[in-house]
Amino acid sequence: MKILVLNGSPRPNGSTKQMVTAFEEGATGAGHKVDVIDVCKKRISGCLACEYCHMKGHGTCVQKDDMQEIYVLLKEADMIVLASPIYYHGLSGQLKCVIDRFYSAAYPQKPPHLKKVAMILSSGDANMYDGALFSFKGDFLDYLGLEDMGVFTAHGMENGAEKQKDELKKFGASLK
Ligand SMILES: Cc1cc2nc3c(=O)[nH]c(=O)nc-3n(C[C@H](O)[C@H](O)[C@H](O)COP(=O)(O)O)c2cc1C
Repeated sequence: MKILVLNGSPRPNGSTKQMVTAFEEGATGAGHKVDVIDVCKKRISGCLACEYCHMKGHGTCVQKDDMQEIYVLLKEADMIVLASPIYYHGLSGQLKCVIDRFYSAAYPQKPPHLKKVAMILSSGDANMYDGALFSFKGDFLDYLGLEDMGVFTAHGMENGAEKQKDELKKFGASLK
C-alpha cells in the first residue's frame, strides 16, 4: 500500500513524531511505501472558501502553496494516517488547515485509491480525544467512507514510552 502520514506536531522529536516513526518502521518493514509529511514545516494556508475547486477548478485548488505536494500524494495513497498532538481539545491548527484543504481533493469524488484511515494522537491529559474523534468519524469514516484502521493515543507518562511505540510498530507491520 501507499500510505500518507500527515504529522501535525511542530516538535521534531515529540511524542507524536516518535509514534509516527515507529509506525513508519513497522509499515516500511512490511513492504509498504510510507510518505511522512511534517505539515508544520510546510507553507500551507487555510481554505479560502472561494469555491474555485467546486466550480471553475474542477477539483483543483486555486492556492499554489505546499499543499500541492500533498494533493499529489493523496491521489496515489491507499491509506492516510492523521497524527497530531491535542491542542485545546482538538487537532493542531496546522493539521486542521491541511484537512480543510481536502475540500478540493474530495471533489467531485474522494481520492481514487484512498480506502483506509488511522489516527495517532498525543495529549497531556487522559480523555482528551472527543474533538479529534468527532473529525475522524464525521470527516474520514462517514463523509469520505474510509475504513477505520484504528486510533492510537498516548497521554501523560505514556508519551514517548516504549509500549506505545511498540504498539505503533506492530500496527504498521500488521497492515495488509
Ligand atoms: C497549544 C497547546 C494546547 C494544548 N492543549 C491541550 C489540551 O487541550 N489537552 C491536553 O491534554 N493537552 C494539551 N496540550 C499538551 C499536548 O497535547 C501534549 O504535550 C502532547 O504530548 C504534545 O505532543 P508532541 O510531543 O507531539 O508535541 C497542549 C499543548 C499546546 C502546546
